[in-house]
Amino acid sequence: MLANKTVVLGVTGSIAAYKAADLASRLTQAGARVEVIMTEPATRFVSPLTLRGVTGRPVVTSMWELNSEFSIEHVSLAEAADIVVIAPATANVIAHLAGGLAGSILTATVLATTAPVVIAPAMNVNMYQNSVTQENIAKLKKRDFTFIGPDYGRLATGKKGAGRLASVEEILGAVAQVLGKKGDLAGRRIVVTAGGTREPVDPVRYIGNRSSGKMGNALAEAARDRGAIVSLITTAGPPAAAGIEVTPVETAKEMEGAVKKATAAADALIMAAAVADYRPKEAAKSKIKKDAAGLTLELTGTADILAGISGNFIKVGFAAESEDMIANARHKLTEKGLDLIVANDITDKQSGFGADTNKVTIIDKEGKEGKLPLLTKREVADKVLDSVAGLLG
Ligand code: CTP
Repeated sequence: MLANKTVVLGVTGSIAAYKAADLASRLTQAGARVEVIMTEPATRFVSPLTLRGVTGRPVVTSMWELNSEFSIEHVSLAEAADIVVIAPATANVIAHLAGGLAGSILTATVLATTAPVVIAPAMNVNMYQNSVTQENIAKLKKRDFTFIGPDYGRLATGKKGAGRLASVEEILGAVAQVLGKKGDLAGRRIVVTAGGTREPVDPVRYIGNRSSGKMGNALAEAARDRGAIVSLITTAGPPAAAGIEVTPVETAKEMEGAVKKATAAADALIMAAAVADYRPKEAAKSKIKKDAAGLTLELTGTADILAGISGNFIKVGFAAESEDMIANARHKLTEKGLDLIVANDITDKQSGFGADTNKVTIIDKEGKEGKLPLLTKREVADKVLDSVAGLLG
């Protein structure tokens, strides 16, 4: 997503300016060319040398730099930018942008660019909540600026409130989402399930499985980066990244309800979750006490979410198998009325539950098989989405 993209990163004078170094480093590692513009107050919080060190690019701090490779910087950077990110953004820079002012190299660049702009504010809670700041933000949002954060938490004054710079993951997520708006899944509604369901035995215990949610998270992030409107229904922790609507659930029943609701207007459902096939018939109201005679739990079947749902959307299932992978997956593809099934061999250590990699075969309903090598879960996610995008046309 970020490979060969030019990101103009504006850093303004907030105590959170030091976090911009991490952001600049992550953007650079993701393949972007990062051109940093710092306001003078920002240089008091973090040295331009630090930003230069992590980006490997000269840092612009003034409109009037003689040694810069940019002749008229505000124009050349504005034109080179695929995206402008201001992190942290102070109330002051937000006010200047809302007013269309161009008194600094950063505000002049924003005024002169046609690239999308992402703003991550960081400031004192009262400054943030002040109606003038809120009006400025509303004005910029109307002009299609994307805001990420601020988060709630401990601020520089020691007080708690909304004003903390969004996390680097959230900002990266917002950047990916904005850049992905023209992707091959732009505007498509994709529902992804992730994690393993937990079926309560009593208020303390549950029957679960080893699914980590990593494959589902990777699918949700990849779909978001390709422009989709993503709804992630998960039992695992949500991804830290922004731009994904997350519905936390625990049991198969809760997941079923959430899937039904989310697919009412979906283009595709991708069931990466490991749904329990059985649950305790009755969950005990109070904690079950130890008994030397042992314990027998009576289990009853859960509904098969994927088999039971249909509508005007692509249905994608996963088949985690320990034997006869292809035959079992093909059987599930037909039984559950799927468009695609992603089969993976969970006996392979580098593949399946908990791993960061996966080795899968994608089978479509015409019976075509695509056997993939060992890939990261993100790469597998993109391969699955290639097939989904193909089916959506
Ligand atoms: N699935 C589902 N609801 C269930 C069980 C599974 O929607 N109650 C979905 C899974 O999310 C997955 C696909 O069906 O996408 C296949 O799941 P899997 O556990 O491999 O198959 P099962 O049908 O449960 O069969 P078995 O456990 O016997 O292999």
